[in-house]
Amino acid sequence: MPGKHLTTVVRHFTREKRRRAAAVQNLAELRPLTNSRQRPGVRQPSGALNLALFFCFVLAPGIFAEQTQSALSAPKFLGSQTCSSSSCHGGAGEKSKQYTIWSTHDFHHARPYATLETARSERIADVLKIGNATQSARCTVCHAPFATVPAERLGHDAAVTEGVSCESCHGPAENWIRSHTRPDYTHADRVAAGMRDLHSLYVRANTCVACHQNIDPEIRAEGHPELIFELDGQSVTMPRHWSKDLDSPPIYIWQMGQLVALREMSWELSREKAPSEDLKDRWNGLAWIIQTSSLSENVKIMPEFTPENLRKTQDEADEMARDLGNYGEQQKANAPEWTRKTLLKLAATSAAFREKGVPKQVQARRAELLVLALDRLGGGINAYTNSAANQSLNKLFADAQSLPDFNPTQFANDLNTFHSSVAGFLETK
Ligand code: HEC
Ligand code: HEC
Ligand code: HEC
Repeated sequence: MPGKHLTTVVRHFTREKRRRAAAVQNLAELRPLTNSRQRPGVRQPSGALNLALFFCFVLAPGIFAEQTQSALSAPKFLGSQTCSSSSCHGGAGEKSKQYTIWSTHDFHHARPYATLETARSERIADVLKIGNATQSARCTVCHAPFATVPAERLGHDAAVTEGVSCESCHGPAENWIRSHTRPDYTHADRVAAGMRDLHSLYVRANTCVACHQNIDPEIRAEGHPELIFELDGQSVTMPRHWSKDLDSPPIYIWQMGQLVALREMSWELSREKAPSEDLKDRWNGLAWIIQTSSLSENVKIMPEFTPENLRKTQDEADEMARDLGNYGEQQKANAPEWTRKTLLKLAATSAAFREKGVPKQVQARRAELLVLALDRLGGGINAYTNSAANQSLNKLFADAQSLPDFNPTQFANDLNTFHSSVAGFLETK
């Protein structure tokens, strides 16, 4: 039976779980390059999207903003070889191993490009009549971003096969490559020279979400995996090549990820003429978890798919994300307390899964986001060192794995068990 119903969610969840067990240390456990468990090709009427619109959305969050400037004034991408010497980022030491991590363990190195050479990509490209996937901007824009950069803006070492390279995230290096090693340069000086400010959680989330949430419905309909953005968990899986003490508490990263995902999804829904029910269910699930996890009564997200409401939600989610990104030391110090309260609130939501009138598919989408949230937030405050809590969370993951088989009553019962297993720990903290 599972074979029949395998969805990308199954893959995603088992991976999340694997992540939990293996944590960051176990970098060897990456997926094999070809995916044997393909999603059954569910055919839907194809969306009437043209390439221009598609580019607008990928460009919208600003990740490729550089590429829209005139090729003459815009800085060049130099390629990862430029960063790779052992005295720079290709070493073994704590401070110099970024290239080493990226080129040996990161999902973004070579792999996204290699994916475009698989039979699965070939099939998707055939149906879409876009020729070779490695050469179509509809794929390379995320899988091999250098391919969408005009040749005159690529340094001679920059190779399309690098996949998602250093500069795809950190920004084209031409103007900051020399100065960024100066000992008297601060982070702000580097940013002023054109390096992207990934230290800002808001900027970082916008960078990742550009490739990790919305996908052209036409591509999705031909068997592309569904994209689910979860900034905190995905930052761990990537894997991180930056020092932990640099980073924000998980609850900030988690919440930032949810907010920018809601913004992007609202935008996507507002521009699709006939969005799928599935996309609406996902939006509903996301709106639910953001509202439910909020400790403020003021966060109210209306589940209405009118263009006005979607635009309003898009703006509000963006505003909340910007505010969240501006947190200071005082708020950071309160993170454990905020996490504890949020986790308790989320653990006590079993009634939401018994609500009459909420379609089962929406419940399934709520559950999918809820288990990921419980995992990330609880992990941040060591809630799962307790084995009863750990086991009951595993059960919730299993319950939420398959969308078609989701059973809200079962989930509600197991959520109650989970709640009792963590309540003591959380209340006495
Ligand atoms: C230019 C587009 C792009 C950007 C920017 C990007 N990614 Fe990715 N990422 C991809 C693609 C494409 C894959 C799929 C690789 C493959 O073919 O399996 C991927 C794969 C991953 C994976 C493994 C698959 C999964 O979803 O679990 C993780 C984790 C991930 N990215 C995290 C991140 C994070 C965190 C950021 C931001 C710091 C980020 N990515 C930025 C394009 C991008
Ligand atoms: C908006 C960015 C984006 C675009 C555009 C895009 N992809 Fe992807 N693709 C991703 C990400 C991110 C993943 C990883 C998803 C995951 O593992 O959760 C992925 C995964 C895949 C996978 C599955 C890889 C695996 O091993 O599981 C295939 C195949 C694929 N993409 C092919 C294509 C093709 C072909 C195109 C063009 C028709 C395309 N993609 C366009 C972002 C994108
Ligand atoms: C998928 C996006 C992505 C890619 C690809 C990527 N990085 Fe990063 N990098 C990040 C993020 C996010 C941070 C954290 C920034 C922060 O908090 O200041 C970071 C941080 C860093 C840091 C600061 C580390 C520290 O602890 O101070 C260095 C140096 C760095 N990256 C170098 C590289 C190099 C070199 C490559 C290519 C070999 C690369 N990065 C590829 C996203 C990326």
